[in-house]
Amino acid sequence: MRTRRRIVLLGATGSIGRQACDVIARFPDRFELVGAVAGRDAAGLAVVADRFAGPRTAVVAPDANATLPPGCASGIEAACDIAAMDADVVCVAITGAAALRPTLAALDAGRLVATATKEVLVMAGELVRARAASAGTRVIPIDSEHSAVWQCLRGEDVASVRRIVLTASGGPFLHRPIGTFSSITAEEALAHPTWRMGPKVTLDSATMLNKGLEIIEAHFLFDVPYSRIEVAIHPASVVHSYVEFQDGAVMAQLGEPDMRIPIALALGDGERLPEVGRTLELRGAAPLEFFDVDTQRFPAVGVARAAGEAGGLSPCVLNAANEVAVAAFLDGRCRYDEIIPIVSECVEHAPSGDQASLDDVLAADAWARERAGERLAPGATVA
Ligand SMILES: NC(=O)c1ccc[n+]([C@@H]2O[C@H](COP(=O)([O-])OP(=O)(O)OC[C@H]3O[C@@H](n4cnc5c(N)ncnc54)[C@H](OP(=O)(O)O)[C@@H]3O)[C@@H](O)[C@H]2O)c1
Repeated sequence: MRTRRRIVLLGATGSIGRQACDVIARFPDRFELVGAVAGRDAAGLAVVADRFAGPRTAVVAPDANATLPPGCASGIEAACDIAAMDADVVCVAITGAAALRPTLAALDAGRLVATATKEVLVMAGELVRARAASAGTRVIPIDSEHSAVWQCLRGEDVASVRRIVLTASGGPFLHRPIGTFSSITAEEALAHPTWRMGPKVTLDSATMLNKGLEIIEAHFLFDVPYSRIEVAIHPASVVHSYVEFQDGAVMAQLGEPDMRIPIALALGDGERLPEVGRTLELRGAAPLEFFDVDTQRFPAVGVARAAGEAGGLSPCVLNAANEVAVAAFLDGRCRYDEIIPIVSECVEHAPSGDQASLDDVLAADAWARERAGERLAPGATVA
């Protein structure tokens, strides 16, 4: 008889976290939630703790007046302790750079990491890979595009890959006149046509920096050079990505846009479980269309690709500057069409160095946050 896989969930209160909870609850004979971490939402974490049989819990930065669930710890060290606890899979779904330290704690403890959080691989892909290798463990994807590639590559030799093509829906501004981008509101940018996700990734999907982050994520996950990673606009979001091989064969993974499918696959380390989500019916479906990315409309993809190719600390700067600019846009402190110029300006001046040391990564992250913040200051010019 198979034993249940013990799951730790970092970011249990978010969009991916809640869907992961649904998957765990749906397959109680396969999964057991043993640890859960939230950012601020103590009440949301209490709901998770009540739903499952007593996972260890921590809230990283609870509000001063928050009531924590019984036995719940607080602070980043407590979150890292839970990330390193005895478990079969640590699911990383904390948005942004905040996920880095808990992810490294999980890897250092030798845990299999299933990550939705692309930002960790962007800011510190070399470090993450080195820590995984020295602990003898792996990082596997949850992001739907990377899960698709992972599925296409099962049993294949990566050396036989001619190119990986990451698909992108194009987001809400695929057809909006570019001349009106300066007046885009947060509400408009958060209205994604196909996926329901947290605000940061939804906004990144609108600018398409998300796809740029995913190019870098794919480079580090699959060890494929940037020259072999491409992007195609595919508004239906049915083909989650595809891989072309040397012999001319193309493998694609298709499915309804439903994150529970890649989440379940990752929690099971590749095991397919029954009826996780709706099955896609291709008969009668709309034609599958694919287009090149319009680089004038979506300059973010090129900015991110250049940062990835530059390597060193550039991807870390890209990520941090973007986090600052996106938060500023969502708070009404900058215009939509200022986000990518701020990010690009920071990347152009990125400090030299590599991602081998955590201190260097954190210093570059802090440098980029400060520089992007200066660009947001009243009176600052955004190129
Ligand atoms: N949603 C999707 O469909 C989707 C698809 C592919 C990839 N992803 C990736 O998955 C990650 C999570 O996305 P999401 O959509 O689930 O975001 P979300 O709904 O905004 O949830 C974010 C989670 O991260 C936690 N968090 C935020 N800041 C934190 C901090 N400083 N320390 C600790 N925890 C913190 C939040 O905790 P509190 O709520 O308690 O503050 C919440 O649990 C992102 O990297 C995103 O790019 C998401």
